[in-house]
Amino acid sequence: MAFGKARRVGTTTTATPRVVQIPGEVVEADAPPDTAADSADEVFKLMDEVRVSLVNIIDAAHIDKLKPQEARAEIASAIRRILERRPVQVPTFLADRVVDELVDDVLGFGPLEPLLAQDNLTDIMVNGPKDVYVEMGGRIQKVDVQFRDNNHLMNICQRIVSLVGRRIDESSPICDARLPDGSRVNVIVPPLALKGPTLTIRKFKKDKLKLDDLVRFGSITAEGAEIIQVIGHTRCNLIVSGGTGSGKTTLLNCIAGFIDKSERVVTCEDSAELQLQQPHVVPLEMRPPNLEGEGEVRMADLVKNCLRMRPDRIVVGEVRGGEAFDLLQAMNTGHDGSMGTVHANSPREALRRLETMITGGGYALPARNIREMIANSIDVIIHAARLRDGRRVITHITELIGMEEDIITTQDLYLFHIEGDDGHGHVIGRHSGTGINQPKIWSKAVYYGEQNKLAAALQIANSEIKPDVTSEIGMV
Ligand SMILES: Nc1ncnc2c1ncn2[C@@H]1O[C@H](COP(=O)(O)OP(=O)(O)OP(=O)(O)O)[C@@H](O)[C@H]1O
Ligand SMILES: [Mg+2]
Repeated sequence: MAFGKARRVGTTTTATPRVVQIPGEVVEADAPPDTAADSADEVFKLMDEVRVSLVNIIDAAHIDKLKPQEARAEIASAIRRILERRPVQVPTFLADRVVDELVDDVLGFGPLEPLLAQDNLTDIMVNGPKDVYVEMGGRIQKVDVQFRDNNHLMNICQRIVSLVGRRIDESSPICDARLPDGSRVNVIVPPLALKGPTLTIRKFKKDKLKLDDLVRFGSITAEGAEIIQVIGHTRCNLIVSGGTGSGKTTLLNCIAGFIDKSERVVTCEDSAELQLQQPHVVPLEMRPPNLEGEGEVRMADLVKNCLRMRPDRIVVGEVRGGEAFDLLQAMNTGHDGSMGTVHANSPREALRRLETMITGGGYALPARNIREMIANSIDVIIHAARLRDGRRVITHITELIGMEEDIITTQDLYLFHIEGDDGHGHVIGRHSGTGINQPKIWSKAVYYGEQNKLAAALQIANSEIKPDVTSEIGMV
């Protein structure tokens, strides 16, 4: 297989990011010619040869002191000198590739570098040395990127986990880490991963999507976005629910953007992803155990500590366990407008999961008390989903309206209705209100002077209702 033959080969000295062609994506036609020599084996063989000489001529201590750009330039020129000394001249396009890939190997994350440089990718998934996938525009696609062998990939994995002070091997085969640009990484290696070292990278998006972008993408309508703004402004206690990669953190970030500048916000995250622009934000990050299994700081510890930090609001990146109790308590004790995300397939499942998390967190409370606590704390659940065509949409804005006997009652205000398929694999659907004009959050809207905005948004959303749609009272 031609290795990266569709790559745009940049000159390393100027650190131009190389671009890997993603199937279906248009790439400028300046790829090197397809010759027999243009094979992964050829490149890897040449790289191995050059690497041996490179070790002898570069001074690692000197390179360490240079700025990244200068280090790249210095190593690239050393590689070129080695290539020029070979008795048989190496074709330019091959030399360029050896330079690029060797510099990436020495200074960066090897074959991952061109993928990491591409901002339009959401995830990078490496399933062993020869099997690399990316997610772009909601779709997963295989890309023409390879590692030499398991050892090569394992070295890159070691380099990544060393960034968080860890090592990965048979005795410690799972690790979460973070790249310098903030991208989230999970590494799992043999014997647990059967295809070889397996890496999953959630790329950090430098420019986080705004609510306007979500409207532009059709993830929500303008009036739906207005309702969300009102929810953010009026200090509703909020859970954003959704499946993996459905856009929960993005949505939380958008909503947190409506928090007033004067408020003190403490954020607790697994690995810092939120980018709040307000001046008075205190970001906290949990810590995994070290190599000896010590020093772990769990999310529940962080959220508990938050309560002693005089927050106006607490934002929890992802609620997964016992911290659910602490977050609900915060919501109940004067930290209105606190929020977090929960992995779930529907708003109702999110409520059930919160209940299970509290029970699992060691709080031996009767189910009814837990549900009461949930019903008294949370005002709204906003649910996001990734559709089978890759599109991400906000499918529910649902409010909690109280308890009926032992059951939490909910009321949908805004829904996404799936109407079919366009015959090309694209889901056809539509957002609308549910006929509710004065939701339970109305009193908060009045208190914050946002009732006209809410009324106008609901009126437009409700005008989209088709006769078969009615408000759904949910029971959990
Ligand atoms: N409405 C949207 N339209 C297009 N892309 C989106 C949308 N929402 C989020 N994304 C993109 O999808 C990716 C995943 O989003 P995000 O991290 O918010 O999901 P998540 O549900 O928090 O994922 P996880 O379950 O892994 O925590 C990001 O790259 C983000 O930019
Ligand atoms: Mg997330």
